[in-house]
Amino acid sequence: MKDFAIPRRRVLTGVAAAPALALSACASGEKDVGAVEDLMREHGVLRRAFLIYQECAPRLRRDTARVDARAIHDTAQLFRRFGEDYHERKLEEAHIFPAVKKAGGPAAAYVDVLKRQHDRGRAITDYVLAVTKSGSVSAADAEPLARAFEAFQIMYANHTAREDTVVFQAWRNALSARELDEMGDKFEDIEKQTFGHDGFEDAVARIGRIEQSLGLADIAQFTAPLPPG
Ligand SMILES: [Fe+2]
Ligand SMILES: [Fe+2]
Repeated sequence: MKDFAIPRRRVLTGVAAAPALALSACASGEKDVGAVEDLMREHGVLRRAFLIYQECAPRLRRDTARVDARAIHDTAQLFRRFGEDYHERKLEEAHIFPAVKKAGGPAAAYVDVLKRQHDRGRAITDYVLAVTKSGSVSAADAEPLARAFEAFQIMYANHTAREDTVVFQAWRNALSARELDEMGDKFEDIEKQTFGHDGFEDAVARIGRIEQSLGLADIAQFTAPLPPG
């Protein structure tokens, strides 16, 4: 970020940042998003994609013909572009995993299996895209697709939970405050290069539209019933 006059993250977090600069950054609506928060909020988008898959699994079993295959296809495309090509490949595999492996310790032991899970996820996404391409899911594909959703969801829930609580924390601990700050700027650059604009906001809006189309947008419907007694 050497070529930028006022690197956004450093304005707010750098030790040398003048209060006036920080104030002007706040006034313009720009707020700091650290590298780890960036990764974790991306997981939030991916979890919403899995909630869509999870809702579609019983629908596929119950009434395959009425399942909106296009919404599933859109979800898989979002997962491919935002989750696999960007979050996993350009951030985790390029920057997080090598640093965590190098730092050693308990978190380093996760790296190889996490990479294998990324690869398995890609294979499953290929499959989801293929069986939903025509705009409908065939009766023969319904059960295998529902099972793929369930297995994928369990794998990724475990995967992101370990990344959030172990791997990202080890990565943060391995870097100095300055390095972490620079990585935050770098991630922002990669995001802009990849999507040409704010990829996260775009992904949130897109997943919201898919939820809307499937009747999943109102989260009040997911409030659990009172337990018996
Ligand atoms: Fe990952
Ligand atoms: Fe991740």
